[in-house]
Amino acid sequence: MNVQVEALQGDITRLALDAIVNAANPTLLGGGGVDGAIHRAAGPRLLAECRTLGGCETGQARITGGYDLPARHVIHTVGPVWRGGGHGEPELLAGCYRSSLRLAAEHGLASIAFPAISCGVYGYPPAAAAAVALAAIEAFRAEPGSVRRIALVCFERTLLEIYTRALADREPRA
Ligand code: APR
Repeated sequence: MNVQVEALQGDITRLALDAIVNAANPTLLGGGGVDGAIHRAAGPRLLAECRTLGGCETGQARITGGYDLPARHVIHTVGPVWRGGGHGEPELLAGCYRSSLRLAAEHGLASIAFPAISCGVYGYPPAAAAAVALAAIEAFRAEPGSVRRIALVCFERTLLEIYTRALADREPRA
C-alpha cells in the first residue's frame, strides 16, 4: 500500500486533513499542550462530544468530529507517562499509533497527522519515541486500508530534526 510518511514543523491545529491526533489524558476532558491547543481551536462542541465517550485507556484511541478545526476529525489517544522505559512504555506508545491508524482506516480516512505523543508533559525521550512511532507506522503500512498520508507534526525545531533523522534512518537503503 502506497503510504506517504513525512515529518514537518508546525501547529497541528491548522492542518486541514481528514484527522489530527490529540495527545490526550485518560479523561479526554482536555488539558494543556497540544490537548489544550486542539480544544481551544475546535471550540466547546469538542469537549461536549468527549464527555460522551467515557474516557480512553493508555495506548487506545477514540474518534470525534473536528468542529471548528480545519481537520474533519480528531482522534484522541492517550500516551504513556515515561517512567524510565521498563513499564511497558514502548508497547503502549506503539499502541497509540496503531490504534489511531486503525481507527482512521475504519472510518475510510486518507490523511492523518500525529503530534509527538508523550514527548511533552509525559516526558518520553523524543528520539526513542520517534523510533517507536516509525516502527508502528511501518507495521501499519502492511495492512490494507484508506490511509495514504501520515504526517508527523513537530511543534519545536529540535523535535523536527529528531523525527527527520529517524525517518532517514528507516528509509530503505538505495
Ligand atoms: N501542534 C503540534 N504539536 C504541539 C502543539 C501544537 N499546537 N502544541 C504542543 N505540541 C507538542 C509538544 O511540544 C510536544 O512535543 O506536542 C508534543 C506532546 O506534548 P504534550 O502536549 O505535553 O502531550 P504529552 O506529552 O502526550 O502529555 C499529555 O498533557 O496536555 C496534557 O491532557 C494532556 O494530560 C495530557 C498530557
